[in-house]
Amino acid sequence: MMDSDIERVLISREAIARRVEEVARQITGDFNNHTSGQVSGAGAGGTCESPEITLVPILTGSIIFVADLIRRLPIRMQIRLVSVSSYRGAVTRAKQALIREELTMLPQSLTGEHVLVIDDILDSGQTLAMVQRLLRQKNPASLRTCVLLRKRRPEAMNFSVDYVCFDVPDEFVVGYGLDYNDYYRNLPDIVTLRPQVIHAHAPAGPEIQP
Ligand code: IMP
Ligand code: MG
Repeated sequence: MMDSDIERVLISREAIARRVEEVARQITGDFNNHTSGQVSGAGAGGTCESPEITLVPILTGSIIFVADLIRRLPIRMQIRLVSVSSYRGAVTRAKQALIREELTMLPQSLTGEHVLVIDDILDSGQTLAMVQRLLRQKNPASLRTCVLLRKRRPEAMNFSVDYVCFDVPDEFVVGYGLDYNDYYRNLPDIVTLRPQVIHAHAPAGPEIQP
């Protein structure tokens, strides 16, 4: 059973919901200030007058967060998924991050678009740095970043990011979209796993994880 694998609950579903609501209000306020007076030039067909945002969620860990967040953003939006593979052991640090082209839905150009990248957790910063590089090449009007979690380790704390929902201890966490070997994403709370669970399922070698 999944529940017996949990060591402790770090952030409850209620606390997540409250914070997501707060951050959504912040994003909306900033976006409205930032774009006030602007008319969107990038909308499909250019038919809409209101400014819009392009969300770029990084698969797979951000899906639950994004699902909750977007319903709290009263902004005209498009969603462009990006998929990144990290070659890593399940709990070891990222060695190398690669864009998975076949699962990525970015247009050739993002000229004129206000882009918000969304990831589940900021750890070494490699993933976000790589996605930012890719997006900057597409010339967006603005580029902001939002993460659900940020680990309390120097690489993450020193990485510049616009919105952070929670800082968490430098431990391996799962739930609310975050996985261990692709499991546990459906846990409603953000939790740590019992060490026995992690050791029992640790892969023998490096592997690819989206
Ligand atoms: P970074 O590239 O090192 O910042 O790592 C970010 C990616 O690694 C995230 O998108 C997650 O998929 C994964 N990751 C890092 N730490 C954890 C964790 O504690 N639990 C689950 N996934 C994690
Ligand atoms: Mg992941």
